[in-house]
Amino acid sequence: MKFFIDTADLDEIRDLAATGLIDGATTNPSLVAKAGRKFEDIIAEICEILPGPVSAEVTATDTETMVSEGRKLAKIAANVTIKVPLTPEGLKACKMLSGEGTKVNVTLCFSAGQAILAAKSGATFVSPFIGRLDDIGLRGMDLIDDICTIFRAQAAFKTEVLVASIRSVGHVIEAAKLGAHVVTIPPSVLRALYHHPLTDKGLAAFLADWETTGQSILDDKDSASSAAAE
Ligand code: G3P
Repeated sequence: MKFFIDTADLDEIRDLAATGLIDGATTNPSLVAKAGRKFEDIIAEICEILPGPVSAEVTATDTETMVSEGRKLAKIAANVTIKVPLTPEGLKACKMLSGEGTKVNVTLCFSAGQAILAAKSGATFVSPFIGRLDDIGLRGMDLIDDICTIFRAQAAFKTEVLVASIRSVGHVIEAAKLGAHVVTIPPSVLRALYHHPLTDKGLAAFLADWETTGQSILDDKDSASSAAAE
């Protein structure tokens, strides 16, 4: 399962890219507004930091303008993926842009029927928003289960399920269990994935016990040889 980072905050992206675990990024107009910088500059910088797919969303609502916006954004870098909304106009734009060889992420997907339409339109990714379904009392993960089952049954569908609107570590784990191709994770949730109180407690005990041995794994000779190797 690939990890994308769901933010337009360049400091966060730089910091988390250093983990070596990030395969791409997703942005949306709300995240760009929060970042408070010029959209194209943000996308160009993310594309330099991360070699994988970086989603940049169109803001027009008619097909023709969406396609023009998509073509312009796609020129920013080879790894730009164009994000279009799951509307009839957006899916037409998806078909046209995909036909030109541009990767497209169809966003704001809230039903299995919509996901089928995205796959039929040649989308590279479809983004079901699970947190927003949970927010209205539905089970977002049921939608991921349905879409993964359908895409597995339809060999002709090449679209990847990109689980979006992730709010918790549990969402990431559930998406992995269901076989989703990609999760786009907010930085806070990605950091939370590392943590377990028993890890902290266990490490503190190991280090305290090690301290009592008075030993150290590296000695002066090791430091000298690693300095020479550098
Ligand atoms: O990338 C879009 C998506 O992840 C939005 O998440 O938390 O605004 O529902 P959220």
